[in-house]
Amino acid sequence: MSASELFSVQGKRVVVSGGTSGIGLMIARAFVENGASVLISSRKAEVCASVAEELSRFGECVAVPENLASEEGCQRLADAVGEIWDSLDVLVNNAGATWGAPLAEHDAAAWDRVLDLNVQGVFHLTRFLRPLLDASVSGEPPHADPARVINVGSIDGLRVPGMETYSYTASKAGMHHLTRHLAWDLSPRITVNAIAPGPFESRMMAATLEAQGEQIAERAPMRRIGSEEDMAGVSMYLASRAASYVTGAVIPVDGGLSTCLATWNPAS
Ligand SMILES: NC(=O)c1ccc[n+]([C@@H]2O[C@H](COP(=O)([O-])OP(=O)(O)OC[C@H]3O[C@@H](n4cnc5c(N)ncnc54)[C@H](OP(=O)(O)O)[C@@H]3O)[C@@H](O)[C@H]2O)c1
Repeated sequence: MSASELFSVQGKRVVVSGGTSGIGLMIARAFVENGASVLISSRKAEVCASVAEELSRFGECVAVPENLASEEGCQRLADAVGEIWDSLDVLVNNAGATWGAPLAEHDAAAWDRVLDLNVQGVFHLTRFLRPLLDASVSGEPPHADPARVINVGSIDGLRVPGMETYSYTASKAGMHHLTRHLAWDLSPRITVNAIAPGPFESRMMAATLEAQGEQIAERAPMRRIGSEEDMAGVSMYLASRAASYVTGAVIPVDGGLSTCLATWNPAS
C-alpha cells in the first residue's frame, strides 16, 4: 500500500468541536485541505459562519453553532449532524476551556464550567454520535478502517503544570482515562485515542505565550512551541488507515516537554 493511501483522509466525514479557533481550527483546516468533508462547531454563530466560509475556499466545510457544555447541547449537535450526514467517520472532541485561581478561591462554578465541557461534553457528544460513527463501518470484524474518535487532552493531564488550574488538570487527566475506557467499549468498530498537546498558539494560550513563550520554547527539548503542521500530522494520522490498530492511546505532541527532564539541561 502506498503512503498516500495509508495516510489518506480523502472523502471522510469529520466533526471538529471547537473548530473555529486554535488547535481545532488547525485540525479542521488540515482535514478540509486534504479532501475530507468537515463540520465545525462552537458557541458563536457569526464566528462559526465566517470560519466555515474561509475554510470552504479550500474544500468542504459547514458549521453548526452549539454550546457543548451540556447534555442537551451535545444532543442537539448530534441531531444536526444526523440531518446532514447518514454516517460519520471521525469525531474530534477538541472544544475545551480552562480556569486558574488560587486553591482557596477555586469555587464550584469554576470547577463545573471546566469539567462540564472538557469531560461531560466529550462523553455525551461521543455517545450521541456513536450511531452515526457505527454507520460508517460495515461488515464483520476485524475492520480494516474503523470509525475514529480523537479527543484533545493536554500534557497538563499527564504532569502538573505549575499553575493553579486545578479543574483543568483534573479534567484532562479524567478525559485521558475516559479515552481508554471508551476505547474498550467502542471497539472493534470505533477507535478512541487522545492527543495531549503541549503549547500551541491559540486564544486560550495567547496570554501565557505572550508573557512566557520564549522561556517555554527554550525549556522544550525540541526548542520551540507546536506548529499547525504538528497538529495536522497527528490528527490526520489518527484518522487514517495507518492508525486503524491504535486505540486507547494518549499521544503527547509537546516537543518532549512532558516526557523528558528539560527544566535544566547542563549540556545545552
Ligand atoms: N493551545 C494549547 O497550547 C493547548 C495545550 C494543551 C491542550 N489544549 C486543548 O486544545 C483544545 C483547544 O483549545 P485551544 O488552545 O485551541 O483554545 P481556543 O483557541 O480558545 O479554542 C477553543 C475552542 O473551543 C470552543 N468552545 C469553547 N467553549 C465551548 C463550548 N462551551 N461549547 C462549544 N465550543 C466551545 C471555542 O469557541 P467559542 O468560544 O466560540 O465557543 C473555540 O473554538 C482544548 O481542549 C484545550 O484544552 C490546548
